[in-house]
Amino acid sequence: MRQAGRYLPEYRKVRRQVGGFLELCYTPDLAVEVTLQPIHRYGFDAAILFSDILVVPDALGQEVRFAEGEGPKLAPIRDVAGLAVLREEGVHDHLAPVYETVRRLSRELPPEVTLIGFAGAPWTVATYMVEGGSSRDFATTRAWSLADPEGFGRLIEIVTKATAAYLCRQVEAGAEALQLFDSWAGILPEDAFERWVIEPNSQIVSIVKQKYPQVPVIGFPRGAGVLYERYIDKTGVNAVSLDTTVPLAWAAERLQPKATLQGNLDPQVLLAGGEALERRAREIVTMLGNGPFIFNLGHGIIKETPPEHVARLLEVIRGNGRG
Ligand code: CP3
Repeated sequence: MRQAGRYLPEYRKVRRQVGGFLELCYTPDLAVEVTLQPIHRYGFDAAILFSDILVVPDALGQEVRFAEGEGPKLAPIRDVAGLAVLREEGVHDHLAPVYETVRRLSRELPPEVTLIGFAGAPWTVATYMVEGGSSRDFATTRAWSLADPEGFGRLIEIVTKATAAYLCRQVEAGAEALQLFDSWAGILPEDAFERWVIEPNSQIVSIVKQKYPQVPVIGFPRGAGVLYERYIDKTGVNAVSLDTTVPLAWAAERLQPKATLQGNLDPQVLLAGGEALERRAREIVTMLGNGPFIFNLGHGIIKETPPEHVARLLEVIRGNGRG
C-alpha cells in the first residue's frame, strides 16, 4: 500500500531527480533504490516492486502521464473504435525495465524478505483507460460496459491478457508473490462484479497458476463487502487484502478459513497516530492473528503520514510496544 512513496523524505529526494513519475518506474537503478528505502528504514517482511498499475496501458500504447499534483492523465478510450490505438505486440519490450528492476531486487534483497510483484486488475485499469484518469462516478466506463458489453469486454480481454503475461514475467524475473489491485471493484453491482471483477481476476489467476502453481496470489477487490467471500471462492486467490471497511469478526469467521487475510488498518488512523493507532493495531492483530494473516493497511498510505508513526506501528504489531 505504497510502502515506498511520498511520505518518505528519501523517496521525495529521488523523485526530484527525474522528470516524470513513469520515468522513475522505468529506471531500474532508481526503482530498485526506492523499493529498498522502506526495507532499510523499517525492516518490513516483504518488499513490493516499485512501479504503477498504469504501466500496462502505457505499454499497450495509450498515452499516459502523471501531472504534478493532479494524478494520472490518459488519452481516453471511450468506445470500440478507440481500441485501435492499443498494440499488444510491443508490451514486454516496453516493460523490460520493470523486469530488470525485479531481477535486481531479487538479487539484492535478503532471502528472508519476500519480493511481491503486482499489477492492476482489468476493471480498475480499464476505468483509468476509459475515464482518462481518476474519476468520481466512473460514468463513461459504466455507460460503455452497459451499452456495449461485448465491445467493453474486448478492452477487458486485452488488459487481462497483457496483465497475466506481465505477472508471469515478473515471476520469471524473481517475484515470489503477486498482488492484483482491483481498487474500484466496490462500485459495481453484483452482476457486473461477476463479469468485470471475478471473471478477469479468475482468468489471470488461472493463467499464472498454470505456469507457477507455487506462487501465492493476493487479490484486493477493494470495497467488495460481502462479495469478498464469492471473490475468494471463484477466483482461486490464496489471499485477500481487506479494505478498511471490512468487519474483522466477519472476516475471521467467513473468509479466514478459505484464504490468508491481509489488512486492514485505516491509513487515516496511521496518519493520526497516538493511542488510537496503537489500540486499532492491537485489535486487528487480536482479531485476525489466530489464522493466516499479513498485517497491512486497508488502502494506500497518506503522503502526510509522519514516518515515525510507521515505526511505532511496527513496534506495536511486533510485540515490542508498551501495553
Ligand atoms: O506500494 C508500493 O510501494 C509500490 C508502488 C505502487 C504505486 N502505485 C506507486 C505510486 C503501487 C502498488 C501502486 C498501485 C496503484 N496505482 C493503484 C492501486 C492501489 C490504490 O491506491 O488503489 C492505483 C489505483 C494506482 C494509480 C495511481 N498511481 C494514481 C491514482 C496515482 C496518483 C495518486 C496520488 O496519490 O498522487 C498514482 C501515483 C503513484 N503511484 C505514486 C506512487 C508512489 C505517487 C506519485 C509520485 O510520486 O509522484
